[in-house]
Order: sequence, then C-alpha cells, then structure tokens
Amino acid sequence: MSTHITAEKGMVAECVLLPGDPLRAEHIASTFFKNPVKYNETRGMYGFTGEWNGHRVSVQGTGMGMPSFSIYANELIDFFGCKKLIRVGTCGSNNKNLKLRDVFIAQSANTDSGMNADRFGSSFHFAPVPSFSLMYKAYEEAVKAGIPVTVGPCFSSDKFYDDRHDEKMAMMHKLGIMAEEMEAAELYTLGALKNVETLALFTVSDDILTGEQTTAKERQTTFNNMIEIALRSFFS
Ligand code: HPA
Repeated sequence: MSTHITAEKGMVAECVLLPGDPLRAEHIASTFFKNPVKYNETRGMYGFTGEWNGHRVSVQGTGMGMPSFSIYANELIDFFGCKKLIRVGTCGSNNKNLKLRDVFIAQSANTDSGMNADRFGSSFHFAPVPSFSLMYKAYEEAVKAGIPVTVGPCFSSDKFYDDRHDEKMAMMHKLGIMAEEMEAAELYTLGALKNVETLALFTVSDDILTGEQTTAKERQTTFNNMIEIALRSFFS
C-alpha cells in the first residue's frame, strides 16, 4: 500500500483520470465505467478502477492545489506504475476567445508555485508541457465530436485568493496565457521527471474578465463532454 492511496499494487490501471474533487471521481466511475471498484477512500479521496469500451481505466481524486495533487500523482506513478495521467478539471478564462463551457487543453503550464524553484534552483526555469501525443489526440477527438475546444497556455496558481491577482492577470493577458487553474504545472513536471504521459483538460467554469460563471447543470454537461474526450484520448 502507498501512504495516501491505501490499495494493493495492481488495483489501479495504467491510465488514470484525475479530477480534483473526489465526488467527481465517483460521478465519473458511476457514469462512464463498467463494473467500477472503489480502491481508495482514505481521507475521502476516492479512487475507482473499471472498464471503458473494454479498456481498464481508473479515476483518482487529488484535492486542490499542487501540494495535494503531487502526493496522489507521485504515488500513482511510483507505487502503482501508472503511465498515462489526464487531469480533468475546471478553469477560469482570462481571454475573450475562451468562452464559458468550452473545453480547454493546456499546451503549457506557467506557475507562481515555489515547487519547481525548490526542485530546480534559481537559475534553471523548467517549462512544463504535456505529452504531445495525448494533446494531439484530445484535440482531434474534440473536433471529431463537434465539441468547442481551445488549445493554449495556462497558469497554475498556488493561491485561489491572491492579493496580487489583478497584477498577475495583467501579466498573463500580455503573455497570451488564457486560463487559470491550480495543478497542471505539477502534473507536467512529474510527467517529464518520471517519463510518463500527462495532459490537463478543462471546462471553463468561470470568466475572470466578466465574472460570469456556469450553472451547476451546465458544468455537469460540459464536464461529461470533457471526460469522453479524455477517455478516447487514452485509447485511440
Ligand atoms: N482560478 C483558479 N482555479 C480555478 C479557477 C480560477 O479562476 N476557476 C476554476 N478553477
């Protein structure tokens, strides 16, 4: 057993979906998986393994923010041998071309987190990027399904409530960084360090520029579209 995912080796599939919210993990397993089995409920951070179109697949809640996310991703890769990890979450749009309810694929993940500064030191600035193969497949699957999709850079912030938020948003806007979320930079960095395929997919839940938000019902529909894209990307 690993420390935070209390399951035996072999109970998690090589392909794992990673929502922040453990209740979303339960929703994904019960909506999309055949014969789902819950392998973890330690700290309420549910993980399930089941089948999708004949393929073995898992879903694991990660909590919010990079320190929490990193614990689950490290254990999935190092202890359970997971090889393809797709984060499925929500993001805020900071760009007028990225609309509420769209699916967004993070092509790179900028960050204000101290995690990589601590890892790499002050003179090496690593650029966290996803697996090109997974990113390409996700884009292709979204277009094929007629789901509006945008690909661009995101910002993985350490603080949801940040006194310097406006200043950071202005910098992001200048640099063409389209969306804000809180985990992708750590996922992409672990992908590079541990030689596994990673991708972060989002549905746009709020517009940072206008303050508009999606309703809970809309979030469910667009969320399901994104899960379908993620599952197809694993196995196409
Ligand atoms: N900021 C950070 N994370 C988020 C946001 C946001 O605006 N929306 C959804 N997740």
